[in-house]
Amino acid sequence: MTKQYKNLVNGEWKLSADEIKIYAPATGEELGSVPAMSPEEVDYVYASAKAAQPAWRALSYAERAAILHKAADILVRDAEKIGAVLSKEIAKGYKSAVSEVVRTAEIINYAAEEGLRMEGEVLEGGSFEATSKKKIAIVRREPVGLVLAISPFNYPINLAGSKIAPALISGNVVALKPPTQGSISGLLLAEVFAEAGVPAGVFNTITGRGSVIGDYIVEHKAVNYINFTGSTPIGENIGRLAGMRPIMLELGGKDSAIVLEDADLDLAAKNIVAGAFGYSGQRCTAVKRVLVMNTVADELVAKVTELTKALTVGMPEDDADITPLIDTKAADFVEGLIKDALDKGAKATTDVKREGNTIYPAVFDNVTTDMDLAWEEPFGPVLPFIRVNSVEEAIDLSNQSEYGLQAAVFTNNFPLAFKIAEQLEVGTVHINNKTQRGTDNFPFLGAKKSGAGTQGVKYSIEAMTTVKSTVFDIAK
Ligand code: NAP
Ligand code: G3H
Repeated sequence: MTKQYKNLVNGEWKLSADEIKIYAPATGEELGSVPAMSPEEVDYVYASAKAAQPAWRALSYAERAAILHKAADILVRDAEKIGAVLSKEIAKGYKSAVSEVVRTAEIINYAAEEGLRMEGEVLEGGSFEATSKKKIAIVRREPVGLVLAISPFNYPINLAGSKIAPALISGNVVALKPPTQGSISGLLLAEVFAEAGVPAGVFNTITGRGSVIGDYIVEHKAVNYINFTGSTPIGENIGRLAGMRPIMLELGGKDSAIVLEDADLDLAAKNIVAGAFGYSGQRCTAVKRVLVMNTVADELVAKVTELTKALTVGMPEDDADITPLIDTKAADFVEGLIKDALDKGAKATTDVKREGNTIYPAVFDNVTTDMDLAWEEPFGPVLPFIRVNSVEEAIDLSNQSEYGLQAAVFTNNFPLAFKIAEQLEVGTVHINNKTQRGTDNFPFLGAKKSGAGTQGVKYSIEAMTTVKSTVFDIAK
């Protein structure tokens, strides 16, 4: 029998009556089971967390930071052990899995330090009616309370840690709902925080299928803040259920790489291939389409095709560039996009091949706007090229997307790059680089259907704290 992983609830490790078996997507190997929590068990998680908050909040920033630094040290110590499980659980290359764990430790350390720099302000009255001159306002930041952190399968450690650490350092308590495929990794992260000495009830986990318990855990009145990363439809549902409570939504994307005719095409090709095919395209920030000037399209397509053909296809433990997708539904979806594009006249410049849930990396030239591949987020290793005749056409096509996460612009004309960046309806524009979340102190956000709210350590702390103003009359 494989290991039965347990939830961390009020400082104790708990099984539930029901469990969910977790299998490796690449091999089908059974990796263990996680509890399927009942609504009553969720109620207990939330009640324990609420009860733990006053004492946690009463600690100094330095005391909370010391626990977070310890958690970061343990993560680094166990990076290879946790990375090996993570690699199997979500079919991510082993080295990338270990670096995800180390990156999470860096975020936790940075959050601890950022907490030490938290400060408020004092405002003077007198700007309005004369009598207000006697007043001062002392403005401080307070924790929001109980944060529900919901993470996606593609970064089960990192996109949990990047929510948990800023929440905890600010005096909040946390309930983490990891993705089902990724929940063993989430529970290993909980072991790290428990070993670091996070007090009982301050950090808890809730496992179970989102389709079964998702609405219940979100709607629950005990939750003060929902910090979600995942797909746009689920994010929109959470937005509806949240009511007046604050939320952070980091959702899907269709990031464009815009390549102008003066661009360094070798640099562009290298970044486009790395951006499109890292973790087999299962990144919100993956380059998901190239909008290239017709004049340089042939040359760029040839360079990208050559680099793509050199990618390795295989298993996560071998660190192959392209590994099996997370499940059959995901592979079927990508295959459907490919078929639609081919039926409508797109030209494949690489072999189009599928073995099980492995989709070989595919590049398509002459993609047109009537094809689903021009607009849908594939979350797989497929890269469409759309040829354009002007900068305006590229901006217009980019902005027609329902998504607005990021974009990349490749050009050596920096004033023009800034002008384009200003016009793109996205959270971040990278100049001469691939789209990407890091570095993790930078703001990370999506416009339109890519999200609401801003992450990035300092921004996450601000988001999960609220302003409290205390006003004094300093003279009668
Ligand atoms: P997903 O299916 O939306 O799931 C994300 C999380 O939500 C999982 O923990 C899932 O649990 C949970 N969930 C499912 N139904 C829920 C409900 N009704 N209420 C509350 N939670 C619920 O997304 P995914 O397939 O894991 O991740 C891929 C998507 O995430 C892509 O669209 C990608 O672009 C996006 N993403 C965005 C960012 C960003 O920062 N913008 C980063 C990474 C990924 P279960 O696993 O149990 O269903
Ligand atoms: O999947 C979305 C992640 O936030 C992307 O992070 O750009 O560092 O791979 P990344």
